[in-house]
Amino acid sequence: MIEFSECLKKFPPYLFAEIDKKKAELRKQKVEFIDVSIGDPDICAPETAVETLTKYARIKANQKYALDQGSLRLREAIKFWTKKRFNVSLDQNSEILPLLGSKEGLIHFAFAFLNRGEYLLVPSPGYPGYKGSAYFTGAKIHYMPLLESNRFLPDLDKIPQSVRNKAKIMYLNYPNNPTTAIAPKSFLEKAVRFCAEYGIILAYDNAYSEIYFDKRPLSILEIKGAKDVAIEFHSFSKTFCMTGYRLGWAAGNRQLVSGLLKVKANIDSGIFGAIQETGSLTLEKESEYVQTLRKKLKERRDLFVSGLEKIGFESVHADSTFYVWARIPKGFKSSIDFAEHLLSKKRIVATPGVGFGKYGEGFIRFALTVDVLVLKQALKLLE
Ligand SMILES: Cc1ncc(COP(=O)(O)O)c(C=O)c1O
Repeated sequence: MIEFSECLKKFPPYLFAEIDKKKAELRKQKVEFIDVSIGDPDICAPETAVETLTKYARIKANQKYALDQGSLRLREAIKFWTKKRFNVSLDQNSEILPLLGSKEGLIHFAFAFLNRGEYLLVPSPGYPGYKGSAYFTGAKIHYMPLLESNRFLPDLDKIPQSVRNKAKIMYLNYPNNPTTAIAPKSFLEKAVRFCAEYGIILAYDNAYSEIYFDKRPLSILEIKGAKDVAIEFHSFSKTFCMTGYRLGWAAGNRQLVSGLLKVKANIDSGIFGAIQETGSLTLEKESEYVQTLRKKLKERRDLFVSGLEKIGFESVHADSTFYVWARIPKGFKSSIDFAEHLLSKKRIVATPGVGFGKYGEGFIRFALTVDVLVLKQALKLLE
């Protein structure tokens, strides 16, 4: 009998792997369904990305191991993009680290700094990957509730003193998955002050920084003092619909960046050179792509939100990202109960709020990753 490690045994089934299994069963039975469960855009990646990848895959030098630190070319492209977008200056050699997607970096980052018995502060509801950091390192998790009544921001004053004193890393994510909230500057300032006061590292997940409709979201690095405590994570997955390419980056405090680099140097062996070249050119050339993407998503959002509200859904949130976070209708016991109803009676696959943590209970998440015609069909089914 081969046994999993004690650490692996602690992992609950990964939410989206479970949903994938359900979808595979439906496909096997040849049942058609509408999939609005996972944040994997249906929209094509920019032409630049496809062309560059094809072209640079042919270059022999790219068959070799890449630098752990990422190519200078990509680090410089990230530096210029960050300056243009956030007016934040970064040093390409010590404050930027390309990643195999932001998930990889977000989780591996904790390996560099989190010790057994220390606290990891995790938003609930939140991206399911964060808690893995604690399971892998033997750290304890303190969940910070993101409540509708507090605009889905954690109330830092409610974190118990005993937890603050033993907390090592706090994950924050705005624009937020799944609640769609955007954090105001005043909250980010408070978070930086709080982390500085208690010696907590702020791991800021900004994967959705470009997926907004009205107000432009901030970088944590725009906040005074942030570079003393924070590292920020970005992704090509959402901004450029490049989920499969596996490309992202971390930027911020140089000690934090160097810790992550040390972990990665012992785990992976760099990012395929052609993909790094693809990332560089995409960042440089594709600013209009993101504007078009936002327009398309806004059209979907406006249609779906007003449709849900007409049907009678309450508390429908869609301020940013490509999700809609809505309260489940009255009469359903739980978000799983409602998600199962959607699957079996309406053939719609959506994500139950509780899958993102205890404080996500009572909500359902729809991903706007299908076009307006399919969304209209979904609304008809939901009526
Ligand atoms: C909040 C958040 N962070 C990080 C990620 C990971 O993105 P990737 O690893 O594709 O860059 C996701 C993906 O859904 C996400 O929703």
